[in-house]
Amino acid sequence: MAGSKVRAILAIHMQTTTEVNWQAIRKDFPILHQEVHGTPLIYFDSAASSQKPRAVIDTLRHYYEHDNANVHRGLHVLSTRATEGYEAARAKLATYLNAASADEIIFTRGTTESINLVANTWGAKFLRAGDVILLTEMEHHSNLVPWQMLAERTGTVLRFVPALEDGTLALGALDSLLTREVKLFAFTHISNSLGTINPVTDLCAAARAVGAVSLVDAAQSAGHCPIDVQALGCDFLALSGHKMCGPTGIGALYGRAELLDAMPPWHGGGEMILSVNYERSTFKKAPGKFEAGTPNIADAIGLGAAVDYLEGIGRAAIFEHDTQLAAYAQGRLEELPGVRVLGPRERAGLVGFVMEAAHPHDLTTYADQYGLALRGGHHCNQPLMRKMGLPGTTRASFYFYNTKEEIDRMMEILDNAVRFFA
Ligand SMILES: Cc1ncc(COP(=O)(O)O)c(C=O)c1O
Repeated sequence: MAGSKVRAILAIHMQTTTEVNWQAIRKDFPILHQEVHGTPLIYFDSAASSQKPRAVIDTLRHYYEHDNANVHRGLHVLSTRATEGYEAARAKLATYLNAASADEIIFTRGTTESINLVANTWGAKFLRAGDVILLTEMEHHSNLVPWQMLAERTGTVLRFVPALEDGTLALGALDSLLTREVKLFAFTHISNSLGTINPVTDLCAAARAVGAVSLVDAAQSAGHCPIDVQALGCDFLALSGHKMCGPTGIGALYGRAELLDAMPPWHGGGEMILSVNYERSTFKKAPGKFEAGTPNIADAIGLGAAVDYLEGIGRAAIFEHDTQLAAYAQGRLEELPGVRVLGPRERAGLVGFVMEAAHPHDLTTYADQYGLALRGGHHCNQPLMRKMGLPGTTRASFYFYNTKEEIDRMMEILDNAVRFFA
């Protein structure tokens, strides 16, 4: 579906330029209007994967019904359309992030693959034994394990900015941690388990001040708040399409052109080459050199539709909506006996909590019986959970299609759960 058409549909949802008709927007998500175990579904697991609006679903369907072909190599109409759609999606994402050029956007399978790409190209080429990679204690495994694997291969050392008890980073420790030996500072924008919003602009500036490269894990922020990579001053930024209304299996890495130019390719194969001999090959410039083989064309185009859709609503409005829901949920949860909410008061659109009487897996299974989709477990934050002395947490994560009434219903279910597990 063309971007202008999506925007036209979205215009229907805008009552005024500042007021969004959230109820009308909710109707765009077919999956939300179903019953689970005989009760209306309440989907509070968008931090794991968001639901998809009809505009995205229709775009995928339209692509496969009308335009499907391989990109960049065909000299026929369908291939031209597929190529145009794929490259238009890249341009949309560049505008969405305010990248200086669409060439700074590399399509990947998601945040995990984006970070692995940086580790295996920039990291493998530029990091030496004794160099330091600075991370934080609240990183998702995606922004930890790739660096551990690289450290094992190169002798690089990992350092961590501590997470404090209130769920914020120990920023006072930065001076002693962010030394000249640090070559890369990689951190999450929004913590997926605590809801902490990290001061990314300051962290990027601090990295730059010691000559370190910065990488922002934007998995939890890209679909939830405005992001301007040039204003942030980051060198790399990783995101996942499926957490921002797009399809699964597609995401992106933003990289500053200068760094991408200096990086070797990762995967070798078709599409990424300029010329190939039996002995050796030469490679395209970015982004081509990082996109070996047939890319995920349909889902990239679907992500482009998701970007149009989010832009139509406005990320500032989405952020306000989601954070208000989270603040409301936090207040209500704190009233429940035996329940403790984790993370800071100023939080993104998610709330992680522990209920004394119930293991998060049991509580989540209990909630599912009433159509309430929560997430229970370590949330790919095992070291952080261990540090907090918890087996895991239960998480309710919100998006712009959720409502205050759904939170009220969640509270009824959790209230009953307190008695059930006691
Ligand atoms: C903060 C954060 N980083 C990285 C990821 C990994 O994203 P993906 O599995 O889409 O690659 C997630 C997923 O939950 C996340 O929350």
